[in-house]
Amino acid sequence: MRHIKQCSDRESEGYEMAKLVINEYQELGKINEEIYGHFAEHLGRCIYEGLYVGEDSPIPNTRGMRNDVVQALKEMKIPVLRWPGGCFADEYHWKDGIGPRENRKKMINTHWGGVVEDNSFGTHEFMELCEQLGCKTYINGNLGSGSVQEMSEWVEYLTFDGVSPMADLRAKNGHEAPWKVDYFGVGNENWGCGGNMTPEHYADEYRRYQTYVRNYHPENPIYKVCGGPNVDDYAWTKGVLETTHRNCLPALHGNMDGLSVHYYVHPEGWETKGSATEFDDAVWYRTLSKALYMEQLIERHGAIMDQYDPEKKIGMIVDEWGCWFTVEPGTNPGFLYQQNTMRDALVAGVTLNLFNKHCDRVKMANIAQMVNVLQAVILTEGEQMILTPTYHVFRMYRNHQNATLLQSHIQTREIGVEEIYPVPDLQESVSRDQEGNITITLNNLSFTEDREVEVIFAELEPEKIQGTILQGEAHAYNTFQEPERVQEEAFTSFTRKGTHITFTMPAHSVLQLRVS
Ligand code: AHR
Repeated sequence: MRHIKQCSDRESEGYEMAKLVINEYQELGKINEEIYGHFAEHLGRCIYEGLYVGEDSPIPNTRGMRNDVVQALKEMKIPVLRWPGGCFADEYHWKDGIGPRENRKKMINTHWGGVVEDNSFGTHEFMELCEQLGCKTYINGNLGSGSVQEMSEWVEYLTFDGVSPMADLRAKNGHEAPWKVDYFGVGNENWGCGGNMTPEHYADEYRRYQTYVRNYHPENPIYKVCGGPNVDDYAWTKGVLETTHRNCLPALHGNMDGLSVHYYVHPEGWETKGSATEFDDAVWYRTLSKALYMEQLIERHGAIMDQYDPEKKIGMIVDEWGCWFTVEPGTNPGFLYQQNTMRDALVAGVTLNLFNKHCDRVKMANIAQMVNVLQAVILTEGEQMILTPTYHVFRMYRNHQNATLLQSHIQTREIGVEEIYPVPDLQESVSRDQEGNITITLNNLSFTEDREVEVIFAELEPEKIQGTILQGEAHAYNTFQEPERVQEEAFTSFTRKGTHITFTMPAHSVLQLRVS
């Protein structure tokens, strides 16, 4: 084991100070706000306890939704929420979750922990939650074990505003007006838990099912997401696109707006996964290197998409991503509850920067999952709630939402411990919002070393600079006893001269600078 490059190499290579060069005149595309999206599945304590406690709960709530959690998510500026799964989606029958709650079916959540699912959180509750959050809606339909009719009727129930059996049923259940469904997923992981299909078979099914995902509001159409690959399954991407694009569908646009991609980071591999809180420097770099692998996935799946869709009309929808570690000791293995350290913050920081930089193809992403599951932004215990380091990264990056990506380049050196898992020491993205403010988000991936950085604009001489930083010991995380151990702090230790800003970035930290 060795460092790929020792620190002493730096001076001889002229790397004393890393230069981050920004061309504020070169605009590279719009960063969709949906890149900062989230995912909530009927899994463990994500929906029940984490988001929904019911109207009679002693935990303060509004129509059953936890006030503290809703407030925190609004402050983070959540743009879109995906529901009800995941694997749960392809076993979910939406009619079980409507009507008087006392009459709703109780069943076993066979996929996740074998607990009773009482369906008390269903369609009306999800739409209510999104209304309270002020976010867009992304519903995932059941293609694996549901019927075309069931999917079609769900869309009718949700969105039709004339006289029809489903619109009447919605009104009978207390919601006369239709809702707006922004995104609709036609199945989930249909190569696995969604039916173990071949790409060709799924793609044929996709063609059929999506036909009946009707757009009742053509001026405001539903964005349809086709089920894409797992990680590096390029044959799936190719097979699905070949079949969906065969003999037809020049009208395909409108029939497929997005293609999903799922990728989780497991430092020790899928079987072993690895601890969320205990790791050494080698595992630190391995985790970050695996997170950065996302770029290769975007580029290679993107290259296949380019063959069928050179104008990039179909969005890449990374609707599941994040760290998947071994569950916290003593918790239900089916609940996927894990802690969240500065390492998760860096994974979120580098991944969101990658999505920004590939915003020509990546149109939405949804971290898994929002509360109490996998790389959550919020953890709860009874009436207590804590914000994780990942939450703070999403909050620090919120000004990138709907901003314009600017050209930037940072000088880096390769660091790491294991030869096959190198990472750059720094990584950035830069955007400008509609008011003209420039947001720089920068990560120092080093386990041990601070780094001096010099930001250089083409011509801009910053007048106003505001910064926030997330830093702490690499293993640091928030607990219910010590909820503010890792949190955003003001960052003012920079100097500015003309077009230059200089500062030192602490080891393993995430920085956000807002410049105008
Ligand atoms: O997020 C947990 C699970 O991971 C989802 O249910 C599934 O889609 C994926 O395999």
